[in-house]
Amino acid sequence: MRTASFPEGFVWGVSTSAFQIEGATDQDGRGPSIWDTFAAGAYGDPACDHYRRYADDVRLMQDLGVAAYRFSVSWSRVLPEGHGRVNGPGLDFYDRLVDELLRAGIAPYATLYHWDLPQALQDGGGWTSRDTARHFADYAGVVYDRIGDRVDTWFTFNEPQVAAFLGHASGVHAPGRRSAADAFVSAHHMLLAHGLGLEALRARGAARAGVVLNLSPVLTPAQLGDVSLDLPEEDAEAVARIDALHNRQFLEPVLRGRYPADLLPLVEKVAGLDHIHDGDLDVIGGPIDLLGVNYYTPIVVRAQPGAPADPAFPGSEGVLFCSVPTAVTAMGWPIMPSGLSLVLRRLSEEYPETDVMITENGADFVDVVAGDGVHDIERMSFLEEHLRALRASLDEGARVRGYLLWSLLDCVEWADGYRRKFGIVHVDFTTQRRLLKDSALWYRDVIKRNGLGAERPKRPTLETVAARAGVSRATVSRVVNGEASVSPEARAVVLRAVQELGYVPNAAARSLVTQRTDSVALVLSVPRNGGDALISAVVQYVTGVLEGAGKQITLMLADTAESHRRIIRHVEAGQVDGVVLVPPDGPDPLAERLARTGVPVVLLGRPAIASLVPYVDVDNAGGAKAATRHLLDRGRRRIGVICGPMDLVAVQDRLAGHLAALHEGGLRPAIALAGLDRQSGGAAARELLSGHPDLNAVFATSDELAIGALEAAREAGLQVPRDLAIVGFDDVHAASCTTPPLTTVRVPTADQALALARLLLSRLDGRHTTSVVLPTRLVVRATT
Ligand code: FCB
Repeated sequence: MRTASFPEGFVWGVSTSAFQIEGATDQDGRGPSIWDTFAAGAYGDPACDHYRRYADDVRLMQDLGVAAYRFSVSWSRVLPEGHGRVNGPGLDFYDRLVDELLRAGIAPYATLYHWDLPQALQDGGGWTSRDTARHFADYAGVVYDRIGDRVDTWFTFNEPQVAAFLGHASGVHAPGRRSAADAFVSAHHMLLAHGLGLEALRARGAARAGVVLNLSPVLTPAQLGDVSLDLPEEDAEAVARIDALHNRQFLEPVLRGRYPADLLPLVEKVAGLDHIHDGDLDVIGGPIDLLGVNYYTPIVVRAQPGAPADPAFPGSEGVLFCSVPTAVTAMGWPIMPSGLSLVLRRLSEEYPETDVMITENGADFVDVVAGDGVHDIERMSFLEEHLRALRASLDEGARVRGYLLWSLLDCVEWADGYRRKFGIVHVDFTTQRRLLKDSALWYRDVIKRNGLGAERPKRPTLETVAARAGVSRATVSRVVNGEASVSPEARAVVLRAVQELGYVPNAAARSLVTQRTDSVALVLSVPRNGGDALISAVVQYVTGVLEGAGKQITLMLADTAESHRRIIRHVEAGQVDGVVLVPPDGPDPLAERLARTGVPVVLLGRPAIASLVPYVDVDNAGGAKAATRHLLDRGRRRIGVICGPMDLVAVQDRLAGHLAALHEGGLRPAIALAGLDRQSGGAAARELLSGHPDLNAVFATSDELAIGALEAAREAGLQVPRDLAIVGFDDVHAASCTTPPLTTVRVPTADQALALARLLLSRLDGRHTTSVVLPTRLVVRATT
């Protein structure tokens, strides 16, 4: 493979933002921002503690060799009320940061608004108020006056589309509004603020100023294979409309001083046009020196008459947002490096005079810290593939001046908190220790040679694992496939080696060398404990997503020994590329046998035997912990647990979570075992009550058992929740219909099914796959 070098002077850097890394949200006079309010103290502090550790972080960047660092300024650190009084110590921080960067030979790039509006301005209407745009311009001036002598690259806004529409339409970001009108009005005011801010910066002599937009190509599923495909009229209209809402709503005003003609009727319908004043577009369209482009993923849509609008895209009625038949990141974002090239080609064609900087690109994957590092081969491959696409775009003439990777550090990923890992540097949030991931070392090499290496990032092989673990290849292979015939000690050694090396079994290689059948087996073993809703969701989503990816689905029932044999024969004969297995509860020999065929298999539910066969499950232990903590918070100190059947892994996990929470609360357990149904739940409850007459709460590992306990309590003359609080698990339909309605732990049914389908697609694509464990949610009703 050829090395791909980049033009001389190409800028390599990293990006972060204030709220996501600084922490210290109440220090040195900083005022609250809308994200402090929205996150309500759940995260944000201490984030990466960058406010105190900035010098160490600059050192890290220096070691990586970056030429530029894009950070954002926290408005409420500088102006705690959003306008008026300037907070000197807040400005001092950015002053110190800039000096530290310059000392390290790193060019500071400042973003003025990365979503953290001062709460005081929100209280006055936030972005729905025109005044906020004027305050922004004043704020820009204040910041420039302090650090403008040393910062020559300025971005007014980061992704106004996200701030306006996720913040005000779908409400999943701060300030959490759900008003389509507010979203359009806010978007306009942000654009106006950009224009006014730009004027303020220019008036003071800023060398280079621009704005950062999140751009995505908008395609239909059919165009994923061939972008030049002609579209039927309805699809072409759907694509154009979403493109207007997502891309052109921002590109056109900024670069051409006008709104797209096809956008205005959409805006007018929900928000009117009174908020757009004469002259605004002249201000917004003031010339910029640099357009920042954040690229992560494409948008895939098609026409679907009657479909309701997506909440984040008011005006998208009749458009279906499609899942994409490619591998996704842990964030669920489809991976499509060629999408970056499409964005850049479009910019070259439509705005040929515009200089571009990739201001964000990166990926969230599940990381494993393995002693000496984090072997994040997936992130490396993601970055490498995007840089290859970028390199190709440069050859086509794209005016890209640099690439800033998102992100330097693992940090607070907005509404998702700490669980997303976009960093090339791992952060341990309890100790704040930084650890360079392999991707950071790889990026350092890219920067050093100003280009990509001849070799793509390499995965460790089965042999490497066997050598590290000191066992044979066959043993590794048996452990990887979840075979029972390996001693627990050997299994543990192998799994540790796998973790340390970041080994990914490459089952897909097999289907690549043999031929693809484009057929996938969905194997259902029935019955499954209370799983009706789950099974139907699995059938629906697995079929939907996989068919969307061009796979034919064969539904196979695994209910008898003969059917098991038939399924194995079918898979061994190379009739399918992959298998989705919904095993029955409890140990399943079929899973093991299927894994041994070498065809990619994914499972629903954590299997009893640890292996590398990936599965999708819910956080059973976490859910039980939350349920038990809830009882403790309600002042219940004598809590019994009804659990069963104990051969189910999910039940074991739920019991473990319950016991852990009791232990934290300094309490001892009272356990009664049960089976599957209400009767056995009732019997277990009676047993608990007679053994522990002072019991005042019961946690049951399923709703069925909890409903049995409710009945037993009623028979015993106990009032729920006064005498006895009861919590179940699963949130089955019946849970909301009991008297009183049952507090329970909700498991995300559709998400599990979707994750299962995506996991198989990733495997078929030869991507790194890790098991997926989805969070559960406590639903508090009247029984507690
Ligand atoms: C972008 C944001 C950035 C980060 C990445 C993952 O939309 O600008 O702050 O959240 O996504």
